[in-house]
Amino acid sequence: MKVSKAFELAEESLSQIEDKEYARWEALLILSHFLKVSPLNVYLYLDKEIPEEKFFKILEERKKKKPLAYILKETHFWGRSFYIEEGVLIPRQDTEILVSVFLDLPVKEGIILELGVGAGVIAITLLLEKSNLKAFAVDISSKALEITRKNAKTYKVEDRLFLIKGNWFTPVLEKPLFKAIVSNPPYISLKEWGTLDEEVKLFEPKEALISGEKGTEFQEKLLKFADEYLLKGGFLIFEIGYNQGKMIRELLNFYKWHFKIFRDFKGYERVVLAWKENI
Ligand SMILES: C[S@@+](CC[C@H](N)C(=O)[O-])C[C@H]1O[C@@H](n2cnc3c(N)ncnc32)[C@H](O)[C@@H]1O
Repeated sequence: MKVSKAFELAEESLSQIEDKEYARWEALLILSHFLKVSPLNVYLYLDKEIPEEKFFKILEERKKKKPLAYILKETHFWGRSFYIEEGVLIPRQDTEILVSVFLDLPVKEGIILELGVGAGVIAITLLLEKSNLKAFAVDISSKALEITRKNAKTYKVEDRLFLIKGNWFTPVLEKPLFKAIVSNPPYISLKEWGTLDEEVKLFEPKEALISGEKGTEFQEKLLKFADEYLLKGGFLIFEIGYNQGKMIRELLNFYKWHFKIFRDFKGYERVVLAWKENI
């Protein structure tokens, strides 16, 4: 089937389960997966042929609400393609804000720590953007570490990325060691879980999202302990939920951090940059 025809059919089919704009984007993602080009370059290949049976199978699965990233086993982050599988959280575009906040810091070399590495997109992107950096990355999920290892190999950063299985700070034995600690922690409260999209609840790992009664359990651990692991002048950068600004400000003040909060593309407070020393 020609790409042009497949594009038309995919947009039509996907519009039945999501809004038109997103349906077009997902149609581009499906075709870019077949053509092995970036989504926006699909328009250059409208006359190419793709395998019809595989294409319809993808649309069928997507109609059952399975997230496209899990169907294609591919996700995009900071302009790069990453491998992903069910059992590991699909990286979100909002998390790119965290990367851009980090890249503006004067941290060019040394070791950083990521807590809750998931598929590895944050740590690997930072290593690719800063070639003199090394990273330790922790996750409690063996599956997440396996996927991160695969992505690190693809991008040839496995010799600069040390993966550790364990519970938050617990397996990090050496301190202080890090120029920065980055994290997109679980931050959904038990109450909020019920309000999430069916797609998320049915397919994504609950333990990658839930953070206690209030949703701030992991962020509070960061604020309470990160200082012990950071070198003098180090930075803590972490993501927060769209409605958590007030609660997080209170915690930041309680644990005596200096801070700045950055907003996401929709205008919600999304990323905290915190530090202890006066700068
Ligand atoms: C919101 S996901 C973020 C994943 C990835 N960094 C990203 O931005 O796509 C949170 C991650 O924290 C991990 N996690 C949850 N509880 C943990 C714990 N107690 N210790 C270490 N990692 C944990 C989950 O397995 C998951 O991979």
